[in-house]
Amino acid sequence: MSQDDNKSRKDARPRILLLSGSIRRQSYNTRLARCMSVAVQEAGGDATLISLADYPMAIYHGDDEAERGLPDAARRLRALFKSHHGVFFASPEENSSISALLKNTLDWVSRTDGDEAGKVPYMGKIAGIGGATTGASGTKLGQLHLRSVLSGLGMLVLPAMVGIPFAANAFDETGTLVSEEHRAAVEGLALALVNTAAAIGVTSS
Ligand SMILES: Cc1cc2nc3c(=O)[nH]c(=O)nc-3n(C[C@H](O)[C@H](O)[C@H](O)COP(=O)(O)O)c2cc1C
Repeated sequence: MSQDDNKSRKDARPRILLLSGSIRRQSYNTRLARCMSVAVQEAGGDATLISLADYPMAIYHGDDEAERGLPDAARRLRALFKSHHGVFFASPEENSSISALLKNTLDWVSRTDGDEAGKVPYMGKIAGIGGATTGASGTKLGQLHLRSVLSGLGMLVLPAMVGIPFAANAFDETGTLVSEEHRAAVEGLALALVNTAAAIGVTSS
């Protein structure tokens, strides 16, 4: 992609991919990703909300990769990451880190695909981080791990993060965040994602 192509894309609505690190049917993180997707649209972005249930992959295994190459789901996700300027991740905290599902997904998507370097889908993309938990911490420890993983992959991680503690009481029956403070945090991060992606976000396809 030429610099001119990237500039003309910057003039359009920045494309933001959103995903939850949980595929549990009643997942609070999926609810948070939905709230963020609405906020991204309202902030002037184009939101693409996906479910990792549609991208099933076995736990990463080097022998499988050597024998069969990348799973089809990893290839499809690489293409999606490449065609977006930014990505929002809502991850559960599992034992003070990110969900195993999200880590496995990030790992597979980071692998070399033919002649294309592994980190191409991540490089220079704007990343937003959020998390919801039934506990009191708001996923603070998991978010720090996620920030470290995403930075290592070459993403530009925004400083503000959204944490939703006591998630069982945080959403109403329509999926809206009950607390004004939480809604403002989501809207603020959505605006930062869209504006930063518009200013410096790249696509790689
Ligand atoms: C294996 C496991 C480990 C967990 N560890 C933590 C933790 O370290 N901190 C925390 O706040 N919640 C922890 N939880 C609780 C999850 O945050 C909670 O179940 C959350 O609702 C899961 O996300 P979801 O609703 O999006 O599926 C853990 C849950 C599981 C299953």
